[in-house]
Amino acid sequence: MEANYLLNRQKFGSESNLGNWMSLDESMALLIDWVKNEKLLFHMKQVGHLMKAWAKSKGFDNAAQHMWHLAGLLHDADWDQWPDQHCRKIIEELESRNTDPRIIRAIACHGPRYFGVEPVTEMEMMLYAFDELSGFVHAYSLMRPMGYEGMEISGVKKRLKDKTFAAQVSREDISDGSQRAEISVDDLIRFVIVNQLRA
Ligand SMILES: [Fe+2]
Repeated sequence: MEANYLLNRQKFGSESNLGNWMSLDESMALLIDWVKNEKLLFHMKQVGHLMKAWAKSKGFDNAAQHMWHLAGLLHDADWDQWPDQHCRKIIEELESRNTDPRIIRAIACHGPRYFGVEPVTEMEMMLYAFDELSGFVHAYSLMRPMGYEGMEISGVKKRLKDKTFAAQVSREDISDGSQRAEISVDDLIRFVIVNQLRA
């Protein structure tokens, strides 16, 4: 199954499109067109929000924050309608729109085990690190009476150890993402809690 997603290439987009970004409105229009699943849409908004917040926390300028935002916002755009073409379909779409190659490459390596592309840049590594973890923390918030309020890192970690909770979330990818980014799972969880996106 995993082999189906291999992209079998390492180059994405064109250098001549550096700095060529869709507006937020254009990105949302694409998502509304492609994604009917509300949960998936929320997931992408959450990851986009976290990516932007991370770029901001690093002191990156507004343009860079926007680029990080788009990478998160669009990374699973094809999952709803074309799951067997994930993430080839969104990559081809962004290439046809002459999107900045950094955004396309970040999307291409948000699951190195599946797509066969290694995250290298900070943006690539953070997208990978936030993807599964943010979904997991969100699932945990939904089972808590107060949602994110009062959520503790230890509570999230306890659920991570419970393999029956949100079983579809890959613990392997969470720890691999944290190791590659060289940011502890605790710090990542803290960031996700503090920078939650309210549903
Ligand atoms: Fe995702």
